[in-house]
Amino acid sequence: SESDLEEMFTLAVSVAKEAGQIIRDAFDKEKEVDTKLSAADLVTESDQAVEKIVNTRIMEKFPTHRFIGEETTSESGEKHELTDDPTWIIDPIDGTTNFVNRIQEVSFSLGIMVNKKTVIGVVYAPIKDEMFTARLGKGAYLNGMKLQASKITDLKQAVIITEGGSSRDAKEVEDKVKNIHALITHTRGIRAYGSAAVNLCHVAAGRGQGYVEYGIHIWDFIAGALIAKEAGAVVLDPTGCDLDPLRRRILCACSPEVAKGLSQILTHLDMGCD
Ligand code: IPD
Repeated sequence: SESDLEEMFTLAVSVAKEAGQIIRDAFDKEKEVDTKLSAADLVTESDQAVEKIVNTRIMEKFPTHRFIGEETTSESGEKHELTDDPTWIIDPIDGTTNFVNRIQEVSFSLGIMVNKKTVIGVVYAPIKDEMFTARLGKGAYLNGMKLQASKITDLKQAVIITEGGSSRDAKEVEDKVKNIHALITHTRGIRAYGSAAVNLCHVAAGRGQGYVEYGIHIWDFIAGALIAKEAGAVVLDPTGCDLDPLRRRILCACSPEVAKGLSQILTHLDMGCD
């Protein structure tokens, strides 16, 4: 119901602030870094600390809800099944490589799905103190100010965000380089901020016209995708089909025209399923 959603939203914003405080406190300190699937796939004590506290807060208040967290999943290696139950999907620190290098683009990302639809998205970038929020059908906001994506329709005028990602598989890297070549050729410029959630929020805020990435996970983009959509952007599978939140790839653009243009110039990597 509407009042349940209101309570969930209030808790989401409050845990984002709490997570942000932990990230800020650790930001300038030396970090214990571990690697996961590749030497470019990092985890720190702060990722784990944030995930644990957020999980605790959610379970105290909503014990029947489901929880998908990046670090819990990495430890168990389990596959996800999205059910109709309310599900809190979190990335405790999106942009861990930035965090380790004291690059300011780091964020806490939290999306809530009900009946497999994202109803709430919260992305908090604590170093810049930017709180992005969205509720399905109710717009997207940055620190309380309503967001509107760019109105550009011509790909030639678009700034597009993309990332190298953390896989070092040779074929994957080769296809990504092809895409970077295509993007440089057809757009005004490319950018890579190092956090999928922040990238989507940049598009929502009109800071650039699109974002595409292959190889990310549901916790990286589920919150940012709702924020971008509610700001008027389009969010799709890179082929132009509906986004499948478990298929590990995303295309976001400020307009349908830019989305179509991007989809046509890209090589679509098959990333399997989360
Ligand atoms: C990473 C960031 C990055 C993307 C990587 C992700 P993490 O998330 O979103 O932008 O390129 O693929 O793994 O590991 O820092 O939470």
